[in-house]
Amino acid sequence: MQAENGNKTKTRLFRVSEENFDAILDEAAAIIRRGGTVAFPTETVYGLGADGLNPDAVRKIFEAKERPPGNPLSLLVHSREDLGKIAKNIPEKAFRLMDAFWPGPLTIVLEKNDLVPEITSGNLTSIGLRMPDHRIPLELVKRAGTPLAAPSANLSGKPSPSLASHVLADLTGRIDAVIDGGGAAIGLESTVIDMTVEPPVVLRPGAVGIDELERVIGKVRPAYGESEARAGEAMPEKKAGQKYSHYAPDAQVVLVEGEIRKVSEKIDALLENYLREGKKVGLLLSDETAGFFASERLSAHECFLLGSRKGPEEAARRLFEGLRVLDAKGLDVILADGSFNPSGLGAALLNRLREAASVRHAV
Ligand code: TXA
Ligand code: MG
Repeated sequence: MQAENGNKTKTRLFRVSEENFDAILDEAAAIIRRGGTVAFPTETVYGLGADGLNPDAVRKIFEAKERPPGNPLSLLVHSREDLGKIAKNIPEKAFRLMDAFWPGPLTIVLEKNDLVPEITSGNLTSIGLRMPDHRIPLELVKRAGTPLAAPSANLSGKPSPSLASHVLADLTGRIDAVIDGGGAAIGLESTVIDMTVEPPVVLRPGAVGIDELERVIGKVRPAYGESEARAGEAMPEKKAGQKYSHYAPDAQVVLVEGEIRKVSEKIDALLENYLREGKKVGLLLSDETAGFFASERLSAHECFLLGSRKGPEEAARRLFEGLRVLDAKGLDVILADGSFNPSGLGAALLNRLREAASVRHAV
């Protein structure tokens, strides 16, 4: 499938400014209406959009991303007007979530209506919906006059794109256009919550944390990784949409989690070991962790600094960039700092680090 499709389409690059915003959005909307594919920024990560109600258009997303068929897409909406066309039996709690977190980084999974094609929902009877907090996708959905199927705009198995250059690296020649609207403000994908079950299940952590969700709708159950769920709580079964692995760099990512001093010592020891084995090693560190190392020692290796541990915002924004930069260096091993505080956005950051890692050490 991909051999035929790969690198054949001419991909246009639109750079948005105040002056050309209208013209570019009209042109991009026309591409969507014709059944084409357009990548654009959102506040979480860049998305690859197509008319979510047009099966032929949606098929192009799967082909361009080499996304396994059956992995459901979610839809972006610009208002609640057409919700009733897309979803049904919407629980009252879902409306409360929309009141609290839309527009924003929360994807709400609801029972789908027949209007949504099976290819979009991966043959599931449910569909994820999100109203993004970014004027480009909001305008694009509005002008295209249809909800946009919009997964992250990366090749399947690569880190999600937080910059237009990431999209171009993965999808040039495979999609019709990329709108460059600058860096994604959050840098990690949205929180996904399944509202078709009771209590609701959080399928993916994101910028909207468990505590925030529970303040609005009461008890929810996290469904990502045993060690990430709250202590003593049984894990729900793996749900559709979680079966597919993400964020797999070519280098082996070795994550060290724990208190910062111990993490630094462990990374130091692991670095020694891997170097002795003749491995090429890169480091993905917070500023504070990097501070434990002598600068000559750091400069001898590829090192990407994620920013301060004090707030997870900067590290969240820079994580996927860091994985991409290090992965382009032909490294054998990436030693990653897991000393971040595991609450709110920090939980999402650690979740993505864990998904990228093939080896984890707790110290
Ligand atoms: O922040 C985001 O959500 C970004 C931006 C572009 O909007 N989009 C994004 O899409 O990350 P994607 O397709 O890469 O991730 C959506 C996640 C996937 O894990 C998918 O399997 C899950 O949501 N999902 C979508 N629909 C679902 C459904 N009906 N049931 C369960 N999981 C679903
Ligand atoms: Mg994705």
